[in-house]
Amino acid sequence: MELSNDVVLSPGQLREIVESIAKLPKTWQSKVYFDLTERYCVRLHREDAYEVWLICWDIGQDTLLHDHGGSSGAFTVAKGSLVEDYGKITKSRLRTRRHKAGKSVGFGPDYLHNLVNVGMEPTVSIHAYSPPLRVMNFYCSLPSGTHHLRAIECDTPEPDTTALEAEAATLRVAQR
Ligand SMILES: [Fe+2]
Repeated sequence: MELSNDVVLSPGQLREIVESIAKLPKTWQSKVYFDLTERYCVRLHREDAYEVWLICWDIGQDTLLHDHGGSSGAFTVAKGSLVEDYGKITKSRLRTRRHKAGKSVGFGPDYLHNLVNVGMEPTVSIHAYSPPLRVMNFYCSLPSGTHHLRAIECDTPEPDTTALEAEAATLRVAQR
């Protein structure tokens, strides 16, 4: 693929990158690892304009609802499946869709989502971000709308969100 000279890649370019990497399992298969206690991720590539990550999801593992701190991104499911709640930062309504192996998504900086492996087998996905991640905002979806929990500086798509998960659960209970 021919990359533009711009520092930031488009969602379409990032989607081409994750799709092409997913089709070359010899470049990532040896790095697949499943951890029952948390999602496992490893960076496959990084340069100024973008980075690529492999994420391994055991059954039931999910992210919190999050954006990508102003980065655009893309992901594809290489093995297994993921369910995604997704929407825009400026809108409170989320939609839900399922991604089977071979499906890919590209998104801009105003995108937020929560991904979960609700399938019966571990899942492997490939993700790209441009520019590389520097911060992620985490949210929880409440009956009153999308609630911003916190921004976390990070250089990984899997920062520690243990405290936020408890905070989100408390808010959901309080709004019942
Ligand atoms: Fe994400």
